[in-house]
Amino acid sequence: MTAQTQTKRRVKVAVLGVGLMGKHHARNIAYFDPNAELVAVSDIKPEALEWARAELPPTVKTYSSSEELLANPEVEAVLIATETAKHADLAIKSIRAGKASTGTQLPSSLVPLRHSLIEKPISLDADESKRVVAEAKLHPELKVMVAFSRRFDESYNEAAARIKAGKLGTPYLIKSCTNDKYDSTGRFLAYSKHSGGIFIDCGIHDIDIGRWLLDVGNPAKLKNPTKQVTRVFATGLNTVYPELEAQGDCDNAIGVIEFENGTKFNIHLSRTSMHGHDVICEVFGTESKLVINENPNISRVEIRDAHGVRMESHPSFYERFKGAFVTEIQTFSKCILDDIAVPTPPQDALEAAQIAMALTHSFRTGMPVFFGDDGQPIFA
Ligand SMILES: NC(=O)c1ccc[n+]([C@@H]2O[C@H](COP(=O)([O-])OP(=O)(O)OC[C@H]3O[C@@H](n4cnc5c(N)ncnc54)[C@H](O)[C@@H]3O)[C@@H](O)[C@H]2O)c1
Repeated sequence: MTAQTQTKRRVKVAVLGVGLMGKHHARNIAYFDPNAELVAVSDIKPEALEWARAELPPTVKTYSSSEELLANPEVEAVLIATETAKHADLAIKSIRAGKASTGTQLPSSLVPLRHSLIEKPISLDADESKRVVAEAKLHPELKVMVAFSRRFDESYNEAAARIKAGKLGTPYLIKSCTNDKYDSTGRFLAYSKHSGGIFIDCGIHDIDIGRWLLDVGNPAKLKNPTKQVTRVFATGLNTVYPELEAQGDCDNAIGVIEFENGTKFNIHLSRTSMHGHDVICEVFGTESKLVINENPNISRVEIRDAHGVRMESHPSFYERFKGAFVTEIQTFSKCILDDIAVPTPPQDALEAAQIAMALTHSFRTGMPVFFGDDGQPIFA
């Protein structure tokens, strides 16, 4: 999808939560999307709003309450970047805000529509995610999209195009790894408590890519279109953060997923990479194999010095996927302006989350988790 759209109108977007991710999104909307205008941000922390007043265009309104922001009829679309536990509630409020703020039925031209781009994952709870999926389905006039940033990355898209063109033969296996750089401040210990643990917070990106590239939801390849997963198994270990054990989490995790279309998926997730942020995806097909991001080099510059010959690595996910985050917001605004279906709907996020939750359960119990004919994981 190209970024430039036919129309000159710009979508008026607000960002809810300007922490680590929300700041990046707010800057991208304000300065890098010609089809969007950042009109407001909210955060419950005064320092986040001070940052917004200093760094964003002076026209951007700041709110200490997201509910107050949602009452601003100027806002057409929101990007929800609070911590995960608050996404579902804010997403439902924002999808409904158009109707709630008007009270009575107005002509559709006067009803403020609240398109929503929700940071991944939708929720830490499957039932809450299902509520968001149901709410979005009730409002097909709204664009509700989940921010699976890797889907907007050039390399993953090139891989997807090669697979679609049949260049791999039949893809049958993906080995995917996301290794976050070790953070000596221990940030992950606090982060783990409210992020759902490594499979849900970190692995959901890999799982989404696996589902997409292995075409696991294609009904033509399934006996029962509702059931996409056969079973999952996970294990893990704590190498530098022993405290994570008490939180039911680990700093290195391994998962295996068997899909009903006959393909397999293997992930390695880690919070302890010493050299930088390392994200590798290998796709095996009957005719050939693709390797995405084999080297986590930050640039094409090679350093030759007293230590030998070396290249520097991406320090974090943001340096690696910087361009994808811009394409993500450009895609969202283009879908709104040109009325195109979003590429990452909430249903995809729900499917990926159920797998991540099943992997978490398997890691904690040591048992495989099977999926039933209704497509749901069976938590024995
Ligand atoms: N796509 C990616 O690659 C990626 C990367 C990192 C984080 N994330 C996701 O982004 C989300 C945010 O993560 P983060 O690391 O930026 O967290 P963070 O804690 O740095 O930021 C969250 C912000 O939301 C604010 N907030 C809390 N409740 C609020 C409310 N009701 N209204 C407005 N603001 C509120 C907090 O004060 C904080 O500033 C998480 O869901 C995470 O999974 C995605």
